[in-house]
Amino acid sequence: MQLLDGKFVSEKLKEEITAEAAGVLATIGRKPHLAAILVGNDGGSETYVASKMRNCEKVGFKSTLIRYDESVTENELLDRIKEINNDSEVDGLIVQLPLPKNIDPEKVTETIDYKKDVDGFHPVNLGRMMRNLPCFIPATPYGILMMLEEYKIETAGKHCVIVGRSNIVGSPMSILLARNDYPGNCTVTLTHSRTKNLTEIVQSADIIVAAIGKKNFITSEMVKDSAVIIDVGINREKSQITKSGYKLYGDVDFENVAPKASWITPVPGGVGLMTIIGLLKNTLASAKKEIY
Ligand code: GUN
Repeated sequence: MQLLDGKFVSEKLKEEITAEAAGVLATIGRKPHLAAILVGNDGGSETYVASKMRNCEKVGFKSTLIRYDESVTENELLDRIKEINNDSEVDGLIVQLPLPKNIDPEKVTETIDYKKDVDGFHPVNLGRMMRNLPCFIPATPYGILMMLEEYKIETAGKHCVIVGRSNIVGSPMSILLARNDYPGNCTVTLTHSRTKNLTEIVQSADIIVAAIGKKNFITSEMVKDSAVIIDVGINREKSQITKSGYKLYGDVDFENVAPKASWITPVPGGVGLMTIIGLLKNTLASAKKEIY
């Protein structure tokens, strides 16, 4: 078993991004700039957004965090998004999900200017991705592709089973791994909560992408020898052992699955760190006007 080491790859790519950010500053006279909106104080979202902002600073980007109380109205939020859309000094805008129930995430997603949609959630970006046109690719799938590339994982002709059909990970990942490009050319099976015979399907996978959001959902019986395992799960549980008061668990039972795998991502230290790289790369591409 070998580790797909998100720490190693993300640090390496951050060095490249830092150099490119310096180039942007020299060319256009300002740093690449990511704005993030966080509504409420969900513990997970707080952690993720803080990490996004911290990493922006690390690579020489400007970052702006805009916080709202849970009581913010949908209109207030949409107005603020429109304001940022018109701010020529902001390259990327993300609204951290999930949002409170009274706010429609679809409206929020569609209000963000697709040219600043560095999360890659806007229908224009998703549509362009389907057609293999230049676009912002959702950060987590993008991060996974970079990880596969870094370790030169063979994908052509492989059976990739994705567990979980979310708009953020599973669905876009299925499109990207099926396309006629490296890393792609997989035969993809997209599975979900209504899939029958899930165990048998996963057992036939050369590559497993676990993005279901359930701790230790993928067990060793479900995994064939030498499979490549990509664990997208970040399941937080309270813990008295760790400094943060939380411990993270993947969707894969790492301890028992790892000995069977050829390659596997750890949690933490795997895909989560690569998601940040996807976001930084999209923000950089926006600042450089590489896509739009
Ligand atoms: N919530 C969970 N993942 C993400 C992400 O990649 N972007 C945003 N905006 N919210 C999320």
